[in-house]
Amino acid sequence: MLDARYSFRSHVCGDLRSDNTEETVTLAGWVAKRRDHGGLIFVDLRDRSGVVQCVFDPDTSGEAFVTAERIRPEWVIKIEGTVRKRPDGTVNPGMATGDVEVVVVSATVLNMSETPPFEVEPGIDTDETTRMRYRYVDMRRPEVLAAIQLRDRVTQRFRKSLEHRGFLEVETPILTKSTPEGARDFIVPSRMNPGSFYALPQSPQLFKQLLMIGGFDRYYQIARCFRDEDLRADRQPEFTQVDIEMSFVEQEDVLLMMEDVMHEVMKEADFDLKVPLPRLAYSEAMDRFGSDRPDLRFGMELHSLTDVFATSEFKVFAGAIAAGGRVKGICARGAGDWSRSRIDALNQVALDAGAKGLAWIAFTGDGEVKSPIAKFLSEGEMAGVRETLHVQPGDLVLMIADAPDVTNEVLGVLRLRMADELELKREGFEALWVVDFPMFKWDADEERWNANHHPFTMPFVEHIDSLEEKPGDALSYSYDLVVNGLEIGGGTLRIHSAELQRRALAILGISEEEAEEKFGFLLEALSLGAPPHGGIALGLDRLVMLLAGASSIRDVIAFPKTSSGADPLTGAPDTVSQRQLKDVHLKVD
Ligand code: AMO
Ligand code: AMP
Repeated sequence: MLDARYSFRSHVCGDLRSDNTEETVTLAGWVAKRRDHGGLIFVDLRDRSGVVQCVFDPDTSGEAFVTAERIRPEWVIKIEGTVRKRPDGTVNPGMATGDVEVVVVSATVLNMSETPPFEVEPGIDTDETTRMRYRYVDMRRPEVLAAIQLRDRVTQRFRKSLEHRGFLEVETPILTKSTPEGARDFIVPSRMNPGSFYALPQSPQLFKQLLMIGGFDRYYQIARCFRDEDLRADRQPEFTQVDIEMSFVEQEDVLLMMEDVMHEVMKEADFDLKVPLPRLAYSEAMDRFGSDRPDLRFGMELHSLTDVFATSEFKVFAGAIAAGGRVKGICARGAGDWSRSRIDALNQVALDAGAKGLAWIAFTGDGEVKSPIAKFLSEGEMAGVRETLHVQPGDLVLMIADAPDVTNEVLGVLRLRMADELELKREGFEALWVVDFPMFKWDADEERWNANHHPFTMPFVEHIDSLEEKPGDALSYSYDLVVNGLEIGGGTLRIHSAELQRRALAILGISEEEAEEKFGFLLEALSLGAPPHGGIALGLDRLVMLLAGASSIRDVIAFPKTSSGADPLTGAPDTVSQRQLKDVHLKVD
């Protein structure tokens, strides 16, 4: 509720109802619309709470009528008048205040406005950069306001739910040292320490661990994070996490606590999240959906055809299997009658996703089988495909033969592409935990192991002994919260032994000196009484985007940046003066 009890007004526009009839009110806001009906002038007055119709009558409004003749859209005005029921036939059921109008007796122009760069209306098709440049005008539109209001409700609910559970809100530094979350750092030169730089935090990861070592037990923060990475619809260079850490917990404790909090938060968007959430091991998510953030709102699962083609004459399949690979397929219902060219376009999708080719069999609606590889397949293999994928007339089967990871990933991409193309119904929220991620992943280009989550993640107890010997086999206490194919959050239990942390860093190819230099403060802290601890961070922007039904996180951020990281409103990033550069000991080429 917007409180009107300050100097300028007695009420807010959106609150007026027939109960207010006969009341004298003072309102202030923006001119949303002005209609001159010969005799009368109607002005829709807008503030954050909504819009109300104001009537200027030459006979009763006096000077105010003269004012009404010159006001224009987006001027800021103050009016005084009397609320009355609208005459019969003029009630507007599409407007919350549509039963009433305000008959104006006096009006003051508080400020004029140039013609706005676009109409302050719902559903305009003005390009996004223009809307971002004039974001303060864009914000007056109801959908922008609604998104930011939803964000506020979600944020407040997180705070309430976490405070209620004994979490302490603590702020952590923005000018700090780099924490590796896998992206590039934004860096800030230090004037007082020539040649030295701060890094903006990619997350408060190490600080929240230090808070646990400091005995704070349960921490949260609505934390701004900074990552210099290529931007997408669900990625901004600065974004917000609901960052959480707990001491003396097992993975189960974090997941159950988080589910309850999520249940409370989703209620703010009138959604009844069913808990406990389903869980999928990373390996099963990859095997069945070809993704570690599977969209469960539709089926089209991946099925293994390796057995079907174990003794195939088709060299592509036989060769892949002989090399230790897999043949797998998906069945796209309703694509069996697609044109050749439409199917061929999928071939490029597969190649772009890393496949060597795409094998397909179209089962047309009238029972024909079309496929460039049909001639290589035996009757038994055809029957095997039909049976394994439950093929019906009108289906299109897509198959990939490759190394297991590649097969899964490519089919995962094709699965999503087919869901888009077939416009499969995807409604509601399907949330799940993806758990048991491998501790490390192999970087073939750099020929070294990378951390799957981050280097502070705890391996399964039973994998600790063989960590150096078989890094690729080690699983970790790690979990991602996935909703509708989007990674909403992720976390892990942490390593709390300095010795194990040193070993994990060594496997990542970080030398002892480098470990001391970069993480010495953490290693030291781990040796000064670190409790077992773990936590999670939720992407607040992504969650609100989902709840708002928006297609980009830019829609739920008050002042977002473009895909090139620019802010069209302020013009950031910008050049700085020679003087400023000199102060921080920098020269620009
Ligand atoms: P992670 O890197 O998975 O984990 O980040 C957590 C969540 O933050 C969101 N997110 C983003 N949202 C918008 N724009 C971005 N550029 C962006 N990058 C990430 C995602 C993601 O799930 N310190 C660990 C958490 C932990 O271990 O507790 C971390 O930052 O929704
Ligand atoms: P080729 O014999 O290489 O011309 O391939 C015959 C068919 O198999 C073509 O339709 C290719 O797109 C397809 N194909 C090639 N490699 C693969 C692969 N690794 N997985 C699935 N299909 C493939």
